[in-house]
Amino acid sequence: MAQELDGKVAIVTGGAHGIGRGAVEVFAEEGARVVIADLDVEAGEALARSLGGNARFLRTDVARKDDLLALIRFAITEFGDLDVLFNNAGMPGAFHQRLLDDGFDDFDAVMNTNLASVMHATRFAGLHMRTKGRGSIINTSSIAALEPSYAIPTYRASKAGINVFTRCAAVDLGEYGIRVNAIAPGGIPTRMNSLPIPGLSDDEMKGLIAAIEPARLVTQPLKHTGDPRDIGNMAMFLASDRAAHVTGQIIAVDGGVTAGETLKQNELFGQVRDDYLRSIGKV
Ligand SMILES: NC(=O)c1ccc[n+]([C@@H]2O[C@H](COP(=O)([O-])OP(=O)(O)OC[C@H]3O[C@@H](n4cnc5c(N)ncnc54)[C@H](O)[C@@H]3O)[C@@H](O)[C@H]2O)c1
Repeated sequence: MAQELDGKVAIVTGGAHGIGRGAVEVFAEEGARVVIADLDVEAGEALARSLGGNARFLRTDVARKDDLLALIRFAITEFGDLDVLFNNAGMPGAFHQRLLDDGFDDFDAVMNTNLASVMHATRFAGLHMRTKGRGSIINTSSIAALEPSYAIPTYRASKAGINVFTRCAAVDLGEYGIRVNAIAPGGIPTRMNSLPIPGLSDDEMKGLIAAIEPARLVTQPLKHTGDPRDIGNMAMFLASDRAAHVTGQIIAVDGGVTAGETLKQNELFGQVRDDYLRSIGKV
């Protein structure tokens, strides 16, 4: 089988869990040497160990500019180069159903973690990649920014910022052979996607997620539950030379959710309409 990332050195932020972990696995399978950057030392180190000599872990807080500079230097020192930067770490911030209940108290934390981190890391990596005349930078956005809706407005704004920054960076860094793209995942069952409910054990939480899944799939044309590796596979493509002519794109990997409303959704609406008409004796 082809090793699509043979010889490449990649950084994956937020690589200890969830989508980042899925990308780390796919990158390593495809022959990349990978630096896993995360706050979770135990999980990050364990993952790096499981991948053998081709992976390293560095405790990194992406909200800290100094940590990001140290991360880029670490990859270059450990593996002699940097070809791919996957800016994936992120946080949702506090969940408030209604906007007027949200005091935006975590604005700085969410923006620093989700957006400023992408901007600083892109610059630090870009300064290195410019000297080589090539590189691939991939950012994790979200369909939450492609289809704004109720709740988590700061998160949505941070991801919208990523989308614009991705295109700005692609336009400006293209002349150095640096490609910059973003992936907008749909709902992927990870720790972040499953807001912990006080009093529920891990197993009960898993049961709840499984129970909710059929309802969630109503809005998704593909009836397959997304997996971190689905995002990892797209990141791998964008990291690889197969994507040599792709830059400045925000690519949804969402089972088709943003393609449009499903028939089932429409039927649910129709059912409510018919119930009402029946209740007033019009059908
Ligand atoms: N899961 C989804 O449905 C979904 C959908 C759209 C976008 N996303 C985005 O995907 C990315 C990954 O989320 P996930 O769902 O895999 O969540 P996750 O909680 O499973 O993983 C997030 C990882 O990031 C790490 N992390 C958090 N803050 C960090 C920081 N300041 N510095 C370094 N590492 C940090 C965590 O320790 C964890 O390992 C995020 O940017 C998120 O916004 C997720």
